[in-house]
This record gives sequence, C-alpha cells and structure tokens, in this order.
Amino acid sequence: MDFDITFLVLISSLILSFFVILKRKRNASKSINLPPGPPKLPIIGNVHQIAGALPHHAFRDLAKKYGPIMHMQLGQISAIIVSSPKLAKEVFKTNDLALASRPYALVADIVLYGSSDVALGPYGDYWRQMKKMITVELLSAKKVRSFSGFREQEVDHFIEFIRSTCGKPVILRNKVTEMINNIVCKSSFGGNCKQQDVLIEVVDELGRLVSGFYVADLFPEFGFLSVISGLKSKLTQIHNSLDKIFEEIFEERKIRRQSNKESEDDLLDVLLTIKESGGLQFPITDDNIKAVFVNMFSGGTDTSAMTIEWAMTELMRNPKVMEKAQKEVRETFKGKNKITESDLEHLVYLKYIIKETLRLHPPLPLLLPRECREHCQIDGYDIPVKTKVIVNAFACAVDPEYWDDAESFKPERFDSSSVDFMGTNFEFVPFGSGRRMCPGINFGLISIEAALAQMLYYFNWQLPSKSSPTSIDMTENDGATAVKKIPLLVTPTLYSSF
Ligand code: HEM
Repeated sequence: MDFDITFLVLISSLILSFFVILKRKRNASKSINLPPGPPKLPIIGNVHQIAGALPHHAFRDLAKKYGPIMHMQLGQISAIIVSSPKLAKEVFKTNDLALASRPYALVADIVLYGSSDVALGPYGDYWRQMKKMITVELLSAKKVRSFSGFREQEVDHFIEFIRSTCGKPVILRNKVTEMINNIVCKSSFGGNCKQQDVLIEVVDELGRLVSGFYVADLFPEFGFLSVISGLKSKLTQIHNSLDKIFEEIFEERKIRRQSNKESEDDLLDVLLTIKESGGLQFPITDDNIKAVFVNMFSGGTDTSAMTIEWAMTELMRNPKVMEKAQKEVRETFKGKNKITESDLEHLVYLKYIIKETLRLHPPLPLLLPRECREHCQIDGYDIPVKTKVIVNAFACAVDPEYWDDAESFKPERFDSSSVDFMGTNFEFVPFGSGRRMCPGINFGLISIEAALAQMLYYFNWQLPSKSSPTSIDMTENDGATAVKKIPLLVTPTLYSSF
C-alpha cells in the first residue's frame, strides 16, 4: 500500500512537471525554425517511433519519409537526427565547434569520474587538454607501433587457441574480445590485468548501458527515474568494480615507481609522468587518469572485437571474397615462419575488406551524440543551444546516392575509390569526424588487421553442417554498439601447405 501511494505521487509529479516543462519549452521555441519531423505524442514525443527497433534502422527509415534532417522529441530530449553525408558535413565541418560538446549523461557522471573523460566529457579547455594528451601521448602512430610486441604475443595466443580447436565448431567472440582486451591491458599497464574477467564483463555491461535510450536518459529532469529503474545502482556497481581494479594497479605502480627509476613505457607510466611533471594548465588527478582508462577499455575493446567478428561473418557469407583474401595473405606471406606487423602493409585487399566491414557494420552506427553549445544552423534550420545532434553514420554509409549497390558487401568498391574513413568523406565516418573524432583509429585497426591476416593465413573456415552462407543470421543486438546478435559459429581446419 505504501508503495502504491509513493508510486501515485511519483506519477502525478511526473505528469505535472512534464506539462510545466513543455509549456516553458513551447514558449521558448515559437520563433525557432526547427527541422521537420514525425508527429509527436504528449510526454513521450517520438519515442514510440523507435521503441523496439534498432535506433539506427528506425531513424534511417523515418528519414526516408521526413528527410535527412529531422527534429525528434525523445522524451525531454530535443534531438536533431542527421542522415545524409551532405548534412553530416555541415555538422562536422561548418558547425564542428558549435556542436563540439557532449550532452550530460548519467553514465559519464557516475562511471567516468564526473565526466572528466575524453569521450563523453563536455567541450572546454580541460577537455581540449585531455584530448590532445590522449591523441599525442597515448594513441599516436608511433606510440601504437611501440606496442607491437604485446599485440604479436596476444595474436599468437589467439591463433594457438584456434589451432587447438581445429576440426570443431567454435564461437570466436569471447576469445577475440579477450585478445583485444589483453592488448589494451598490456599497452595500458604493461601486463595482463589481475581481474581481467571482471573487467571484460563490466566493460561489456557498460557498453549496453550507454545507448542513451533508457527511460532515465530520456527524462533526465526526473532524476528519480534513474533510481527506480535501477540504472543508477547498476552504474554505481560498475564504477565501484572498475575503480577497485584501477586502484590496485595504481597503488602497485606507485610503489614500483618509487623504488625503480626505470620508466615502464606503458600508458599508465606516461600519464603518471605527465601528472607528476606538473606542467599542465589543468593539473590532473588519479581519477582523471582512471576516466581515460575507462575510455580506452570501453572504446577500444568491443569496437575492434566486433569488427573482427563481422568481417569473418561477411567472409563466410561471401566465399569468393574469402578465397581472394586468403590468396592474397598466403601469397604475401609465402615461406614465412612468422608474420610481423610490418608485413601487413602489403595486404591491400584485406584493408578493403576491413573498410567494407566498417561501412556495413559501423560499431557505433549512431555516432556519439553531440550537444549544441552555440546557436547554429544546419540546412537552413535552427539548432538551439543544448539540442542533442545525432549523426546516423550507418544511414550515410548505405546512402544510395553515394554508394552503388549500397547494401551489398563488395570490398572491390574501394579499389577504384579514394574514399577513406579518416573523417573527410562524410559518406563513410565509422570513426566520426571533426573535433570529436575517434583518436583510437591506429590502435584499433592494427589489431584487427593482424588478427584477421593470421586467421586467413593459417586456417580454412567452414560453417557448421546444414548451414549455408545465405542462412547466416545478420541481426544486430540492441544497444549503442552494433554487435552481432547471434555469435558466429565456424569450424577452422589447418591450411595444409606449410
Ligand atoms: C574499430 C575500432 C573503433 C571504432 C570503429 C571507433 C569508433 C568511434 C566513434 C564512432 C567515435 C565517436 C566519434 C564522434 O563522435 O564523432 C569514437 C570516439 C572515441 N574513441 Fe573510438 N573507435 C574504435 C577504436 C577505439 C580505440 C582502440 C580507442 C582507444 C584505445 C578508442 C577511443 C575513443 C575515444 C577516447 C573516443 C572519444 C573521442 C572524443 O569524444 O573526442 N576508439 N570512436
């Protein structure tokens, strides 16, 4: 009974506050020329039009009807959805600075140490310092190359695992994730993390909770929703688990640094040295460093792991592409006992395969949302301050005006095209573009290439009996990242001519 009364009070205050807020917002938006959009319902706005569907698919379908720029009311969130390369350019180039911030997110507040990270932190001088640090000191091409030993060890382990399963059907996903996580761990802390299973699980859970489409995310002014929905307590648990893991690593390292003057050359050492040097405009704390590591693990693990799984899935669905890729790898590495990272640059066709995989299966099909910090215009429409702007990278990557046979997997399309994912071709932005572009491209790609190259070199691959290439389920899971819903099951056999 007590619960009923509390619930009634909550619901009444929710409805009352909703109408007060709505009236305030309506008055404010009377003179603003917002983009068109689908009709809205009271309270929920347009939420029903995306509920139950994958948001990037739902937005793309709505864009076919309402246009490449739409205004949508997602609960209390006023959002602009951009679905064409031409208008993505206006976001990333013309208005990059005005749209350089990220909206408030409970997950960032709780898990990312008060949004003091790079991925979800608000734009400002502190953020600029941190983005520069992560780009120049942690993820530069030179720094990433310096971790080749770690990567080679981990890819070798992974290949050994596959060898041990030869002839039997195997789900690769967990081992791929473990391999990538180990690479991030070793590059960050110089060795495997003690509680790696917990780390993987927690990062995975975090990935599911950051979609931004939970009820509590859509009604941020009703803070109690995050409490009654359990989101706040889940995020707090995740934060506590991660903090405990990092705290132990930091403590051990600080003791080692005091007794041993030798630098360890991993990312933790780089960050502690920067912190202790004291030359920063905004001095950083241990918590700020931990926030950066959460970004490294959450941004760097699933994205790369799922790209490997989708690439293998597409290769199994397209046996001719598989054959051509194996031919390239086997001819390039013929007679070699060991494949090193410097050999990878010759694998042109494999690079096209990775590009085509990222085109059809961008790990973040809706790029991380931006928030408008200065009034600006896109396509002549007003974008008021605080509006959330979401670019549908998936819609851009399958836009038939830019891509022939857009929905088919055809790596050859890159043979005669200079289109690249470095942020200047707006039809292909799997890493985003502009000031908030992903700084982890080098780090991610090299692991993906190294793993795929060896998987294709050493093994032949078959689907389980009774499955055919066309029967592979291509459904994606719900969430911020487009992971394959049903893990790929394949049987490796050792390629015999070694
Ligand atoms: C296949 C691999 C990867 C893909 C497809 C990917 C994709 C993305 C995308 C789409 C964004 C948002 C860009 C935007 O808002 O415009 C992003 C941001 C970010 N990524 Fe990645 N990423 C990958 C690997 C990595 C790796 C390996 C790391 C680090 C080790 C990383 C760290 C980050 C960080 C810190 C941000 C935030 C950047 C900012 O807000 O300024 N990513 N990534």
